[in-house]
Amino acid sequence: MQRMPNAIQLTDLTRDDLVEMYAYPVEASVPYVRVNFVTSIDGAVSVDGRSGGLGTPADHKVFALLRDLADVIVVGAGTARAENYGAAHTDSELRRRLHREGLGGDAQGTPPPIAVVTARAALDPASRLFTDTGARPIVFTTAAAPDDSKKRLIDAGAEVIVAGENQCEAENIRTSLDALGLRRVLCEGGPSLFGEFLTAGAVDDLCLTLSPQLVGGTAGRIAVSPKAAPTPMEPRHLLLADDGTILTRWERAATRG
Ligand SMILES: NC(=O)c1ccc[n+]([C@@H]2O[C@H](COP(=O)([O-])OP(=O)(O)OC[C@H]3O[C@@H](n4cnc5c(N)ncnc54)[C@H](OP(=O)(O)O)[C@@H]3O)[C@@H](O)[C@H]2O)c1
Repeated sequence: MQRMPNAIQLTDLTRDDLVEMYAYPVEASVPYVRVNFVTSIDGAVSVDGRSGGLGTPADHKVFALLRDLADVIVVGAGTARAENYGAAHTDSELRRRLHREGLGGDAQGTPPPIAVVTARAALDPASRLFTDTGARPIVFTTAAAPDDSKKRLIDAGAEVIVAGENQCEAENIRTSLDALGLRRVLCEGGPSLFGEFLTAGAVDDLCLTLSPQLVGGTAGRIAVSPKAAPTPMEPRHLLLADDGTILTRWERAATRG
């Protein structure tokens, strides 16, 4: 059993320290799926339907860094709609450097594409997903989704990939991302998509921020799925920000020997 690492003050760490602490495994030969969430102390995943009310400067810092490190950002359509997703605005200099060092990134410094998962292909072609793009968006959808909806998204510039009959299956998403060479996967939720990856045994890493507040209300938790899928995780680090934000990173116990 892995001991909980000592807590580290965020202010004691440089940007390069953080890059090292959040780096994906070197030479990922298969997709490595990291999930990133922020919750309140009482476990709320949103405030008034959005995660913005939970964010803190420390969370924003790590949220942005995780995007810099990823090859692709995968998100459920519910989150993309609720949060009005557009392109990821990443640090082009860091992404070029990561590429030179064989740690991901991109030779031109371009951002990772956004991949939206939607059973119904019910996305608005006029939304920021298709108009504010730094890289060609990907849409994972189903065989059951209407063909005209899929065509509208292709016409809007998306690469549309069928990843299941009525629901997209995590394994199909992983396989497709692997084929595209997008192996440093960052899943930004939401809870339904996280639940799909969790029950498929496809979550390698969870970066979880605890926002220093209680929220109450009716907001759900970070993962929901029809059935439970207990998955042992090992702590990798615990960072403390001056405002009380706690940043944690956990890896699936079987991922490393
Ligand atoms: N605190 C955080 O860090 C954080 C992070 C993310 C989201 N959130 C919050 O979570 C809430 C959204 O929750 P949610 O559970 O609705 O989010 P979600 O998982 O992003 O969205 C659910 C929708 O995504 C699509 N989807 C998810 N899994 C699918 C699968 N396996 N196959 C096909 N389609 C799939 C479906 O879209 P279609 O209906 O289009 O078929 C489904 O209706 C928002 O309030 C958001 O702010 C919080």
